[in-house]
Amino acid sequence: MTQIETTPPSDTCSAAALSCRQVRYRAGRTTILDGVDLCVAGGRSAAIQGRSGSGKSTLLAVLMGLIRPTGGSVRVGETEMSTLSRSRRADLRGQHIGVVFQNAELLDELTAIENVMLPALLTHQEKAAARTRAHGLLDELEIPADRSTAVLSGGERQRVAMARALINGPGLVLADEPTGALDAELRETSADLLFSLPASTGCALLVVTHDPAVASRADERYVMDTGRLAPSTLDG
Ligand SMILES: Nc1ncnc2c1ncn2[C@@H]1O[C@H](COP(=O)(O)OP(=O)(O)OP(=O)(O)O)[C@@H](O)[C@H]1O
Ligand SMILES: [Mg+2]
Repeated sequence: MTQIETTPPSDTCSAAALSCRQVRYRAGRTTILDGVDLCVAGGRSAAIQGRSGSGKSTLLAVLMGLIRPTGGSVRVGETEMSTLSRSRRADLRGQHIGVVFQNAELLDELTAIENVMLPALLTHQEKAAARTRAHGLLDELEIPADRSTAVLSGGERQRVAMARALINGPGLVLADEPTGALDAELRETSADLLFSLPASTGCALLVVTHDPAVASRADERYVMDTGRLAPSTLDG
């Protein structure tokens, strides 16, 4: 007898740009992520707050494929990431995920535009087209393209890091304390840019932040507490 598939498409996560199910991560005997469920759809943003050491950066490391979860599933777009090899995870990251770290993590031997072009060149894109796109992003963010990033200000470095995260048009943007090192004005400008992305590019945005003003811009807010993620009940 033919088995008929009767399961309705009731899973609101099924089309999400990012979907995690019961993600666990243990390091030795320590449980750092304890069954995290999270979905972020394209065009939407989410923020995660939580105490220092609660597991926020570890979750981002799992989501960007730097570490493999010890349990559960992580899907980026159509791809189940948790079962991929390290090199396939790196490919997926290069092509589909833009990452912004707190301290920018730029290569200071390179100019601003070279830093921004790097993810495009690493994914074998045509150099002239990558340069044109990088120029466009840097112009938009008012960064001098040919200046060494070693001499840029903290805010300029942060914006170069954002441009670098966006050069490949990622479907998912992950940001860990992206405004942590910035003064109030730059924090606003950078947060404006980040939170405009889902509407302008259709990406899903996930931001880890200690700053309630930044978190309040997100469509969905969560709190991490000892490896468990829950919807935020915080105001703001
Ligand atoms: N490989 C590891 N082995 C053992 N413990 C680890 C490992 N990686 C992370 N931890 C611990 O897991 C906990 C969560 O770390 P994580 O960096 O995710 O915290 P966080 O929420 O990002 O904190 P912060 O807000 O300070 O950045 C910390 O106590 C950390 O020391
Ligand atoms: Mg952290």
